[in-house]
Amino acid sequence: MDSGQVEVRSSKIPRHVAIIMDGNGRWAKQRNRPRFYGHRAGVEAVEEILQACTNAGVQVLTLFAFSSENWHRPSQEVQLLMDLFKSALSSRLDRLQEWNVRLRIIGDRNGLSEELRSEIAKAEALTATNKGITLVVAANYGGRWDITQAAKQVAVKVENKQMTSDSITPEVFAAHLSIADLPEPDLFIRTGGEQRVSNFLLWQLAYTEFYFTDILWPDFDKTAFAVAIETFLQRERRFGRTSDQVESFHRV
Ligand code: IPE
Ligand code: IPE
Ligand code: MG
Repeated sequence: MDSGQVEVRSSKIPRHVAIIMDGNGRWAKQRNRPRFYGHRAGVEAVEEILQACTNAGVQVLTLFAFSSENWHRPSQEVQLLMDLFKSALSSRLDRLQEWNVRLRIIGDRNGLSEELRSEIAKAEALTATNKGITLVVAANYGGRWDITQAAKQVAVKVENKQMTSDSITPEVFAAHLSIADLPEPDLFIRTGGEQRVSNFLLWQLAYTEFYFTDILWPDFDKTAFAVAIETFLQRERRFGRTSDQVESFHRV
């Protein structure tokens, strides 16, 4: 049987869940509190969902924490978000170790402070050999940045005659993207009601199932997550094939 480029998987637990954690600001506003209050509550939701993913058997959880466009926010909010990220990294490190979580940060690190970069390096090094779930945090990340940095790597290889332009295929190109070593997301979740990708994993989401919910991120708990998984399990992933083909594939 022609297995094609994309592996056909039946309705199983997603290996990789990617989430746009949106709605922190509105959650705080509903409570007449500053936006930062919502971001802090959002960190607690991360812990609950990380645990829910582990319990469900998800192998990779990718979270969009700060986009390349979020620099356009008021500088005070940007600063508070960076401080929150840094303190969450150090204060939650023990918990990550305890839960056997392997942490990876993706995004343009050049835009981050020296202090934050060293906190990231420390957390990644310490958790690198953990065998549990992989938690990928996208910080100063943009899907367009990712594709551009991959293109640059490929261009340099062509310039150095390590490869020819003819040898560039989608697979060869994709090997230069962030998290190329991990399975592509099976399930994309966006909380907070907006139905857009906001420059998240553009390439990697090509065949991902999308799930949108109005629930604001700080309220997104394990019950809400279970509903998202249940919805995913109802989907038929066809990867360009017909429904009949997919059914016969699962019968063999
Ligand atoms: C998501 O919540 C967190 C980040 C983008 C850092 P928002 O801060 O975007 O919350 P809303 O969308 O304004 O409610
Ligand atoms: C996307 O949320 C980025 C993160 C959650 C980190 P935004 O709130 O920044 O997205 P837009 O600007 O509303 O599309
Ligand atoms: Mg938002």
